[in-house]
Amino acid sequence: MTYVANFTNVTKRYPRGILALSRVTLQLTKGEFTFLTGPSGAGKTTFLRLLFGEEHPTDGELAVLGYDMNHLKSRQLPRLRRRIGVVFQDFRLLSQRTTVENLDIALRICRLSKEERIRRIKAILRIVELEGRADSFAEELSGGEQQRVAIARAISGDPELLLADEPTGNLDPDLSQRIMELLRKIASRGTTVIVATHDYAMVKRIEARTIHLEAGEVLVK
Ligand SMILES: Nc1ncnc2c1ncn2[C@@H]1O[C@H](COP(=O)(O)OP(=O)(O)OP(=O)(O)O)[C@@H](O)[C@H]1O
Ligand SMILES: [Mg+2]
Repeated sequence: MTYVANFTNVTKRYPRGILALSRVTLQLTKGEFTFLTGPSGAGKTTFLRLLFGEEHPTDGELAVLGYDMNHLKSRQLPRLRRRIGVVFQDFRLLSQRTTVENLDIALRICRLSKEERIRRIKAILRIVELEGRADSFAEELSGGEQQRVAIARAISGDPELLLADEPTGNLDPDLSQRIMELLRKIASRGTTVIVATHDYAMVKRIEARTIHLEAGEVLVK
């Protein structure tokens, strides 16, 4: 069995000795939807940053999409990251650009023709139910709409792994639920999705695998 990610006794210690993750052993499989929960400072963002190659394990082994993250060369990183989508809490959209332009910028690195990019953008806007906002500027969109553009951008390159850090942080419960349903739909299409959140009420409402961190350790329930 090849895993999308395989953590074996992974420990992450930041400079000045802060222990952010401690002996984490777990696997993520293809098409799986997982919540990553835990209080502030538990290590959720650190966990995602290790998957994205922004940080490296201090100890233990980590493989992501077949890459050995302990010995990843810097020239391999862009190739790995092309296969990973990321949704940040603060969206990071270009406010003076339209929905289509925000998505097109992300797609340009894929070396597709203009027609192919437009075809893809249309298909993705259907998935996130934003066809009607294609030509709106990001700054004209509501928080939930911006969040869906951010998700659309993250999935535009057809990633094998999607990382979302508090993707519903500022959204109301109904919209949070819809965003989660959207992320579940993306997982059912074969993308491995991992969602860091401390919105326990939402996690409770949705049946899914949950990895719970406390002070850098995975708690098995
Ligand atoms: N770049 C860094 N340098 C040093 N320490 C860090 C760094 N980033 C995070 N930490 C520390 O590592 C621990 C885990 O942080 P992390 O950001 O992973 O937590 P989190 O679960 O995402 O928290 P939150 O819910 O507040 O976002 C914390 O003690 C934090 O202070
Ligand atoms: Mg965090």
